[in-house]
Amino acid sequence: MTAPLAIRPVPYSPAYETPEKDEAQTQAELAETLLSMSRTMYEHTGEALRSVHAKSHGLLRGELEVLDDLPAELRQGLFATARRYPVVARLSTPPAEKLDDRVSLPRAFSLKVVGVEGARLEGSEGDTTQDFLMINGPAFSAGSAKGFLRNLKLLEKTTDKAEGAKEVLSTVMRGANKVLEAVGIESATIKTLGGHPETHPLGETYFTQVPLLYGPYMAKLSLAPVSPSLQLLTDAPIETENRPDALRDAVTGFFGGQYAGDAEWELRVQLCTDIEKMPLETPDKEWSQEDSPYIPVARLRIPRQAAWDPERVRAIDEGMSFNPWHALAAHRPLGSVMRARRAVYPISAQFRSSHGRCPVMEPRAAEVAAATPPV
Ligand code: HEM
Repeated sequence: MTAPLAIRPVPYSPAYETPEKDEAQTQAELAETLLSMSRTMYEHTGEALRSVHAKSHGLLRGELEVLDDLPAELRQGLFATARRYPVVARLSTPPAEKLDDRVSLPRAFSLKVVGVEGARLEGSEGDTTQDFLMINGPAFSAGSAKGFLRNLKLLEKTTDKAEGAKEVLSTVMRGANKVLEAVGIESATIKTLGGHPETHPLGETYFTQVPLLYGPYMAKLSLAPVSPSLQLLTDAPIETENRPDALRDAVTGFFGGQYAGDAEWELRVQLCTDIEKMPLETPDKEWSQEDSPYIPVARLRIPRQAAWDPERVRAIDEGMSFNPWHALAAHRPLGSVMRARRAVYPISAQFRSSHGRCPVMEPRAAEVAAATPPV
């Protein structure tokens, strides 16, 4: 029998979304700055890379199973019926450059669910994908799209310059973070600047950080490792000395090696239960997990496979784009950061499509399923 939901979600109202001052101007400057970063990298390396999250550490295929017996409030959009979908996933780190992994940064997990049915957002009508882009921290690094633009403009000046200096900075920041953690403080800023602990990306919990519609409600999502094989990797250290691609080695080593059972994650939903305490327009504010816990709605299973090879680089790294606006209308992204992302992701993808080795396209369920090893 379905257990009733212990929390009371708040229904969405357009009044909860308030445009930032000069929002259109911020979006135009974000687009220009991000494109200039891709152009710089193209001129220096000949590669058409993502404006951010350029380096991938794993390119995976698997399956998402929506749980049955969900309470009625959780049966929304993609999660309305218990079903299995083929998925594609990409692990990455945020910079515009493919830095040596000694510069230790937040880790990211992009998930593309394919073959999804239902009313879609404008701009993604012909597709059947639902993307969730997640980073391993519960809140965004900036308080607004404008704040993110300020940080980005600083990064733009160092794009493809002074990798050595970034390695030194990363080591110093990791030291500073250890000191802060010893006294019980977690610093998101230090982690963003390269002070992330050198841990295994497959043991992390990932978060959308910013909200989206969940049917009539508002929510954030997370992806948490639940199989013992993955949980063993939580906080597991990785040796990065003289191993520029240590994160990719760790991911390919895991999926190419022996482990008991499937690699399994839970996709979880945190519903907004109080719009004052869980606002849509302050992306750097974590929604309290005490007030509203993340509740499992689906299971992600990824079988053993070659997690990074030339075929996948072409098909997934180069031939696909992950974008929170590749979505059902029931999961429309919310807030100023999400609105800015609507404006800029297609520009970065378009640059890659026109300057790279293959066009960027949304995949169809049949092709992903055909290429997916059995779970
Ligand atoms: C105003 C804020 C943001 C801007 C301007 C921005 C911009 C971008 C751009 C241009 C790309 C490359 C797109 C492509 O070439 O396909 C990207 C990728 C990505 N972003 Fe954001 N982003 C923002 C906020 C966020 C947030 C809040 C998250 C998640 C928590 C996030 C997670 C990611 C991830 C995981 C990728 C890599 C996608 C992939 O694997 O292809 N971003 N972002």
